[in-house]
Amino acid sequence: MKAVRIHEFGGPEVLELEEAPNPEPAKDEVLVKVYATSVNPVDWKIREGLRMDKFPSDLPLIPGWDVSGVVEKVGEAVRQFKKADQVYGRPDPTKNGAYAEYIVVKANQLAFKPKSIDHVNAAAVPLAGLTAWQGLFDRGHLQKGQKVLIHGASGGVGTFAVQFAKWKGAYVIGTASDANLAFVKQLGADEVIDYKNENFEERLTGIDLVFDTIGGDTQKRSIQVLKNEGRLITTLKPEFHTEAKEKHIYLEGYTAQSYPDQLQQIAGLIDEGLIQPVVSMVMSLEDAAKAQRMSEEGHVRGKIVIKVI
Ligand SMILES: NC(=O)c1ccc[n+]([C@@H]2O[C@H](COP(=O)([O-])OP(=O)(O)OC[C@H]3O[C@@H](n4cnc5c(N)ncnc54)[C@H](OP(=O)(O)O)[C@@H]3O)[C@@H](O)[C@H]2O)c1
Repeated sequence: MKAVRIHEFGGPEVLELEEAPNPEPAKDEVLVKVYATSVNPVDWKIREGLRMDKFPSDLPLIPGWDVSGVVEKVGEAVRQFKKADQVYGRPDPTKNGAYAEYIVVKANQLAFKPKSIDHVNAAAVPLAGLTAWQGLFDRGHLQKGQKVLIHGASGGVGTFAVQFAKWKGAYVIGTASDANLAFVKQLGADEVIDYKNENFEERLTGIDLVFDTIGGDTQKRSIQVLKNEGRLITTLKPEFHTEAKEKHIYLEGYTAQSYPDQLQQIAGLIDEGLIQPVVSMVMSLEDAAKAQRMSEEGHVRGKIVIKVI
C-alpha cells in the first residue's frame, strides 16, 4: 500500500511517501481502508523524536493518529464491526498511524462515524475532540453556569472545547489572535481576548476552570484568574505546581485516551447539528511534509485534514 513513513527521527524532510506492507488485523483488530486522516501536533512531535517517553515507537513509522474510513476486514474476536461499516477513531500513537491507504486499529478504539458529515470532516474529530471532552468534563468537571477560560480557542482542540463548553451551558471565554476573534465568537464564545494585545489576567477573575492548550507563561498567568479551588487543566506539561498550591488551585496535565463511548456521544452531537468540526485545509498524502510544517508554526485554525481517497 501507499504510506507516508519515517525511517529516522528529524525534520519534515524525513517523511517519505513510499510502498509499505499491507497490515493484517490481529484477532481483536479491524483493518480500516483510510478515507481521511488529520494532522495533530503530536504527529510532528513524534516525528522529531520528542515523545519517546509517552509514545515509544519502532521505526519505520507511519504517522497520523486520527482516522475516518471503511472497515475492510475484522479479526476473529471482533463482534461490534463488520466489513463496510463506516468508522472513525484515534488509533494507538505507539503504533503505525493513518497517513496510509490502510491501518489496523484495535476494535475498542473505534466508533461508528457521524452519519451527517463526510470522511474529511470526520477525520478532524477523534484526537482533538476526545482531548477537549476529557479536559473539560473528565478532568475539569465543568458544570452548567460555570465560567471557563479556553486558551488556544481557534486551534484543533480549542475549537471543540469552545463548542462543548457552550453545549454544556458554561460561560465561555476564549483566547486567540485578532484574526481569529470573530471566528471564536461564531463558534459560541461569550467573550474573546486577543492574547497578543491584552493580558487576560488583567481582565478576568473568579474563573472556575482554565483549559490550557498553550502551556508555559500562559499556564502560569492562568493561576491568577481562577477562583479559590478552581481547576487548571492543561494538554501540555503542568509546570507551576508550587504557584498553584499557594493559590489553592488544582493543576493537572493528562494524555487523552481513546474512549469509543465518548466518540459515539460526540458523533451524536455532530449528527444533531450541535457540534461542527472545523477543517481549514484539505491536503493529500503527497503534502504530508507541508501539512506538518504548517501545524508546527502553531497558527492553524481548526484542523488540517489529509484526504487519502
Ligand atoms: N495531552 C494530550 O493528550 C494532547 C492532545 C491533543 C493536543 N495536545 C497538545 O495541545 C496543544 C494544542 O493542540 P492543538 O491541536 O489544538 O494545536 P493547534 O491546532 O496547532 O493550535 C493552533 C492554535 O493555537 C493558537 N495559539 C497559538 N498561540 C497562542 C497563544 N499564545 N494563546 C492563544 N492561542 C494561541 C493559534 O491561534 P492564532 O493563530 O490566533 O495565534 C492557533 O489557532 C499542542 O501542544 C498539542 O501537542 C495534547
